[in-house]
Amino acid sequence: MDRKKFLWTSLLGALIPAGKFSFSGKSEQVVGPVVISTWDNRKANRAAWDILSKAGTALDAVEAGARVPEADPADHSVGYGGYPDRTGKVTLDACIMNEESRCGSVAFLQDIKHPVSVARKVLESSPHVMLVGEGARQFAMKQGFKKENLLTDHAREVWESWKKNPEFPVTSWDKYINHDTIGILALDEQGNLSGACTTSGIGMKMHGRVGDSPLIGAGLFVDKEIGAAAATGVGEEVIRVAGSHLVVELMRHGSSPVEACKQAVDRIVSNNGGQMEGQVGFLALNKNGEYGGYSIQPGYSYAIRDMKTEELVKSKSRF
Ligand code: GLY
Repeated sequence: MDRKKFLWTSLLGALIPAGKFSFSGKSEQVVGPVVISTWDNRKANRAAWDILSKAGTALDAVEAGARVPEADPADHSVGYGGYPDRTGKVTLDACIMNEESRCGSVAFLQDIKHPVSVARKVLESSPHVMLVGEGARQFAMKQGFKKENLLTDHAREVWESWKKNPEFPVTSWDKYINHDTIGILALDEQGNLSGACTTSGIGMKMHGRVGDSPLIGAGLFVDKEIGAAAATGVGEEVIRVAGSHLVVELMRHGSSPVEACKQAVDRIVSNNGGQMEGQVGFLALNKNGEYGGYSIQPGYSYAIRDMKTEELVKSKSRF
């Protein structure tokens, strides 16, 4: 790294207290290991940082981080406590990817609390990249995961209230998704990158619907030469542009993380004739430790943790 930039980054790092909130429309840079995640997932980052700060791997770190909201019943868009689909079933999507382009993914998985860990088992203990539905559940149980009821009383009440007046406009975004998917990216002490993504998807979705989060290239992409990206928001829009792969490819062609996220957002907005009500946010981290995010609508944020700071950054948005 450029020495002047190193010193300036170190000085800034020393001045930033833990827990700082900031607003950023440009790419920032860190030195050393770092973890970033969509939305206010600072607790997830802490779990990841525990591993990174002890010279652990980025892959272990992102899995540990993603498991935090998966286990949190107050998080209604990830794992246990996630809002169900229209039939009252909680169905989960997740994936994980390392610096060697090795990946594992599960979709439409039911009754298993930690889909990200099942995805990791798919990566490590199966000849495949992706398992779905009943096959994914059977695989998980053979791997020792236990069957659990993931529908909390609160989530059931929300579903029962929705059933009295069932509708599914995109504007249900605010009502049925309190913060959406976690995408989490890490760079470890060895300079290796990994990422994970996990979600219960859009609340009150059609039974069988799968979003972007378990799709390598849509919800998550990692390229050891360039960097990593993750997406959050309306998965259908992210899939249409292969969003996370697009962000990484834009970085390959010279864009900074924020510029790449912005161009991917612009592509989605353009696909929709220049106007949109739904939200999509991207997050990107390159090999040099530069990171950034960008979203369609205001309100998107991302959390960062490195050796100097723990911070929640409000992202810039197209609208
Ligand atoms: N981004 C999460 C989903 O659409 O399922």
